[in-house]
Amino acid sequence: MTRLARSVLVDADVVRSRIAPLAHGTDHDAVFAARFAENFPTLHRLFGELYGMRDDALEALTAVVGLAADSWRERPADLRALDARREAQPHFYLDAGMLGGVCYVDRYAGTLEGVRRQIPYFRELGLTYLHLMPLFASPEGNSDGGYAVSSYRDVDPALGSMAELASLARELRAVGISLVVDFIFNHTSDEHVWARRAVAGEVVDGVDHSDFYLIYPDRTMPDAYERTTREIFPDDHQGSFVQLPDGRWIWATFYHFQWDLNYANPAVFRAMAGEMLFLANQGVELLRMDAVAFIWKELGTTCESLPQAHLLLQAFNSVLRMAAPALLFKSEAIVHPDEVVTYVSEAECQISYNPLQMALTWEALANRDASLLNQALERRHALPEGTAWVNYVRSHDDIGWTFADEDAAELGIDGYRHRRHLNDFYVNRVPASFARGVPFQDNPRTGDCRIAGTTASLAGVEAGDPLGVDRVLLAYALALSTGGIPLIYLGDEVGQLNDYSYVERPAEAGDSRWVNRPFRPQAAYDARTDPHATAGRVFAGLRRLIAARKATPELGGGTLLPFRTPHRSVVAFQRPGWTAELPRVLVLANVGDDAVTVDALTLSGFDAPARDLLAERSIDLRDGVELPAASVRWLHVTPR
Ligand code: GLC
Repeated sequence: MTRLARSVLVDADVVRSRIAPLAHGTDHDAVFAARFAENFPTLHRLFGELYGMRDDALEALTAVVGLAADSWRERPADLRALDARREAQPHFYLDAGMLGGVCYVDRYAGTLEGVRRQIPYFRELGLTYLHLMPLFASPEGNSDGGYAVSSYRDVDPALGSMAELASLARELRAVGISLVVDFIFNHTSDEHVWARRAVAGEVVDGVDHSDFYLIYPDRTMPDAYERTTREIFPDDHQGSFVQLPDGRWIWATFYHFQWDLNYANPAVFRAMAGEMLFLANQGVELLRMDAVAFIWKELGTTCESLPQAHLLLQAFNSVLRMAAPALLFKSEAIVHPDEVVTYVSEAECQISYNPLQMALTWEALANRDASLLNQALERRHALPEGTAWVNYVRSHDDIGWTFADEDAAELGIDGYRHRRHLNDFYVNRVPASFARGVPFQDNPRTGDCRIAGTTASLAGVEAGDPLGVDRVLLAYALALSTGGIPLIYLGDEVGQLNDYSYVERPAEAGDSRWVNRPFRPQAAYDARTDPHATAGRVFAGLRRLIAARKATPELGGGTLLPFRTPHRSVVAFQRPGWTAELPRVLVLANVGDDAVTVDALTLSGFDAPARDLLAERSIDLRDGVELPAASVRWLHVTPR
């Protein structure tokens, strides 16, 4: 409050008198006026906290509201109708019918038109959410798979145009599929016009760009910051800064061509709010908020997950609630589990990747031991009301072992040694490993390393392990049942293997994550109905899981109740659905190589008659439940 007390934003009457006319305008729009009245106080407060001490805060806040009003005026009628539908049913994403898919436009379908031609297949699969990997203009060769954006308003011309994206969004929406794209707002590419202007120190339309990024004349400040920051892409450069040709230093957390924006400057917030509103009006329904943990920097800190990062997300949200309320945020915070959850709330990111469950699924499969995963499901799965996990088995990125060392220690596991063991296992450095992964950012100085590889290759299909297909299905069965939106990396559903050809492409050779970003495997898709082919076995198994999930409302919502069995290799939990009414789904999965039987006594808290949802038959729990190696059962049970 003391900060606000001295700030230019403190006099609410002055602020309102300057800004309210923008909301009411000459063409008074009652809907916008009502949303402004509801959300402006929050935005005003957040601006006070973030920028209150700066002379340009009021000007930026005024401009942001002006942008929101203009954006609403231009919002197409079908999107305004979507806004109304979402306001009436805000938690649609908790429905058991939700199913996500993710792919690269070029690799999966060539172009946006190619993606459009896949719509019948997306429907066959049952998708309700489609994440198209970064598709914006980005530097040739230096694009970090599109995560270095040169313009948020232009689609990479090789893929199509913004008009095509908007029309694809409409077509997807018509068949119940929400379009998801990345919002890469921590950094831009070094070719973005803001970047060029910043280096040149240009003022354009009254906006001084020199302060859009963090640029320092010498190593004094970079050295000071780097005392407490972490190296993210050490293969590319050490530390958090790179040197410009003129000798100055600029903040670049990721690749040297990805420059971090300076959100301490309200003009940066204003500029990004404009890009976000633009995308909202193209029909994007969900923004994947890339690298959220890094967006605010403060000397003497790790510069990760600082309180202001949260305030920024809340501020962006309040802008959207005024002008495009249907648009939601998905958090991409691949950090310590204590931090991951701090981004998940209706006021920040309504949905979030679940990196802990993803990593521990692989951890359990490697060790044939479900203890850490069960512990995480029991204590770290719960989220605030109205929010949801996005449960994925793998992404376009690497797998990092992001479990909490404190949790592992309780089970007698040393985190450091365990991570080393997992890395060795997944890059096939231990005898009898079923996995064929590739190390990513192997850092001998810190001992840090992450794993790249497709689901099928990591699960044993590539190595010809007899349980490979079962492990793929087991991993997906967990993603489909723990609660939240399950997300399929397209290609996984037909057992796609690693693509080692990336080493032959110079722009990819230095980044092993390309091994798990293969091209659409046409032959595997053609074989998807062949019960003898690997593709057919994976596809049939996954289809069965998807159909069962969609038909089982208890698998909606996010509530998960623990369930204990005496077997270390058994993942076990109960899903009561949204309403917590009976019956429930009991999930039992055996990550071990040997069959186990969960005996009648363990199951005695339920009525004897139960239904096996995947085998589609009735069972009697007094007989116990047999779980073959690498298998899953979803049982409809009634607690006594
Ligand atoms: C996210 C993306 C990753 C990218 C990084 C930098 O973590 O998933 O692929 O390298 O952001 O933009």
